[in-house]
Amino acid sequence: MSDLYSKIISCGSYLPEKVLTNHDLAEIVDTSHDWIYERTGIVQRHIAAENESSVDMAYNASLKAMSLAELRPDDIDMIIVATATPERKFPSTAVLLQNSLKIEKAFAFDVNAACTGFVYALDVADKYIQTKIAKNILIVGTEKMSSLLDWKDRNTCVLFGDGAGAIILSESNKQGILSTSIGSNGAYKDLLTVNIDSEFIEMKGNDVFKIAVKTMGKLAMSTLQKNNIDIDEIDWLIPHQANSRIINAIAKKISLPREKIVLTVDRHGNTSAASIPLAFDDAYHNGSLREGDLIMLEAFGAGFTWGSALLKF
Ligand code: COA
Repeated sequence: MSDLYSKIISCGSYLPEKVLTNHDLAEIVDTSHDWIYERTGIVQRHIAAENESSVDMAYNASLKAMSLAELRPDDIDMIIVATATPERKFPSTAVLLQNSLKIEKAFAFDVNAACTGFVYALDVADKYIQTKIAKNILIVGTEKMSSLLDWKDRNTCVLFGDGAGAIILSESNKQGILSTSIGSNGAYKDLLTVNIDSEFIEMKGNDVFKIAVKTMGKLAMSTLQKNNIDIDEIDWLIPHQANSRIINAIAKKISLPREKIVLTVDRHGNTSAASIPLAFDDAYHNGSLREGDLIMLEAFGAGFTWGSALLKF
C-alpha cells in the first residue's frame, strides 16, 4: 500500500462583521425567531458588506490558513475554490484569489457543486497529491449567499449566511485523507436552483429535506463500509450545516451520538460550500479536534450533489 497521503495541515476562516439574528429578520419578513429556530436550529447568520465579495472573504480565510501552516505564497502549487457565488463570471474566483494572495507559481480553478463544493474540491485535491502533481494545495469554500436572496421571500432568506473557510492540504507520509466519495443526480435540478434569468434562490424545502436525509444517511453508511470501520470509531462528524434537523436525522439513522457532531449552523446559517471548512476551523480553534481523530465530512447540495470524506486529523 502506498504510504503517500494528503493531509489537512492547517485551516482558517472568515465571517463578515455584520450579524443578522432571527429577531432582526422578523422585522423584515413575516417570521419569528421561534419558527426559524424550531425548524432549522439557526439563531443568527453573518452577512457580507455590499462591497465585500466571495474573493475578499476567501482571501481573509486563506491568509489565516497559510499563516498557521507557516507557508509562503511560493509554497502553494494549486488553488481550488468551491463557490456558487463568484465575484465575476470569469476569471474564476480561484484566479482572483491567487492574485490577491500574490501566489505566482500555482494553477487555480473553481468547482461549483453548490453546498457540496468543498467536498468535491477535497476529492480533486487529494488526487493531485496522490499523483504527485501538487504538494501544497489551498482549498477554500467561500460564499456570499446573501447576494442570491430575495429578502421578501421568508421561505429562503432565513436559511442562508455568508463566510469563507480555507484549509491547506499537503503531501504527507502520515495518514490523512483515507477516502473520498462524490456523486450527483441532475434529475433534481429544479428542487433547489438559481436560474440564469433569475437573481434568487428557488427551493422546494420539503423535498430537499427528505432527499437530503435519505442520501446523507446512505452515504455515511457506505463510507463506513468502504473503509471497514464501525460508527463507534468515528470521533467527529462534520456535516454540511444546512439545518440541525437534517443533521440530527442523519445522526439518528447512523446511530452517532450528538456529542460527536460539529454544529455551527446555529451561528452561521447555511453558508453552502463554506460551511464545512468554517465548521472545521471552529472545531479546531475551540480545541475539539485532536491529532489522530477520525473525522467524517459529509455534504449535500443543489443538483443534487453529495459527497463524503473520511480522514485522520
Ligand atoms: N417563517 C414563518 N413561516 C414560514 C417561513 C418562515 N421563515 N417559511 C415558510 N413558512 C410557512 C410556509 O409558508 C407554510 O405556511 P402555510 O402552511 O400557511 O403554507 C408553513 O410555514 C410550512 O411550510 P413548510 O415549507 O412546509 O415548512 P417546513 O416545516 O418544511 O420547513 C424548511 C421549511 C425550509 C425549514 C424545511 O423544509 C427545510 O429545512 N428544508 C431543507 C432546506 C435546506 O436545507 N436547503 C439547503 C440544502 S443544501
